[in-house]
Amino acid sequence: MRKLLNRLLIRFGLLLTKAPALLSDHSLETSDLFPAELTERVKVTAAIDPPDNELFRIFSADTNVHKWHHYFDIYTRYFERYRDRPITMLEIGVFRGGSLRMWKEYFHPDSTIVGIDIDQSCQAHEIADQNVFVRIGSQADPAFLAEVNGEFGPFDIILDDGSHKTHHQIISFGALFRPALRDGGCYMVEDVHTNYWIKHVDSPETFIDLSKQMIDMLHEPYFDRKETAFRHEHPDALKELELSYLSANLDGISFHDSIVVFDKKKQFLPKSELR
Ligand SMILES: C[S@@+](CC[C@H](N)C(=O)[O-])C[C@H]1O[C@@H](n2cnc3c(N)ncnc32)[C@H](O)[C@@H]1O
Repeated sequence: MRKLLNRLLIRFGLLLTKAPALLSDHSLETSDLFPAELTERVKVTAAIDPPDNELFRIFSADTNVHKWHHYFDIYTRYFERYRDRPITMLEIGVFRGGSLRMWKEYFHPDSTIVGIDIDQSCQAHEIADQNVFVRIGSQADPAFLAEVNGEFGPFDIILDDGSHKTHHQIISFGALFRPALRDGGCYMVEDVHTNYWIKHVDSPETFIDLSKQMIDMLHEPYFDRKETAFRHEHPDALKELELSYLSANLDGISFHDSIVVFDKKKQFLPKSELR
């Protein structure tokens, strides 16, 4: 009943966001096309072993850093490949500085780690002589983000662990992905479970909603076209195509529990070949 009411409110524009439909009754709406075996309720138990990776060991040796345990395997999976050379990383959200120190120890020693935070007291966590910098400002302020990019960017990795408000996640991604993330770089947004918590949802669409739209953008070249438009040496094969910047520069999107990862790489026209 509540679900129906929410749907009606959304339909007539009386609800600011679609999220309450999910939040109010704690249930997921799933397609009837899922076989029952996949939607059947099964038990999930508490983890017994801590993550077994180097980053978790670095995390465990320090204090003043707040991270969920299951993030460490995900970080390792996406960040490991950046460890063999000096990189530049931007982390949104400094808090007590522990994560900046953790990244500094994990990545190549000549890497530059930049943290931004709205809280002035975070400035104390800068360690300039070790290339760990802190700048004070809001992740929802594109002019501030442009300044940070001008001073330190472009970045190899951008990690959003800031306010976790949906409109902030959207503004930061919008302001940073194009100018501030290098080709071959990785943009990670964590704690996106907050997109399902009403106090963090302050935009008509959540960051997760936009991320789902980006799955369609990945497939923009194929919209309303035949396979021959991409076939090697076929007379109908396209030579070029106009796409949105995102479609033309997104290599992939990965969804994990509470984390969305965007790999950036200049795209070329897809090509198929029949041999
Ligand atoms: C979850 S904590 C960061 C935790 C830290 N990265 C760690 O792993 O220990 C979130 C931080 O975001 C900051 N924050 C809140 N709103 C912000 C905004 N609009 N812009 C930038 N930082 C913000 C808070 O002051 C807080 O320090």
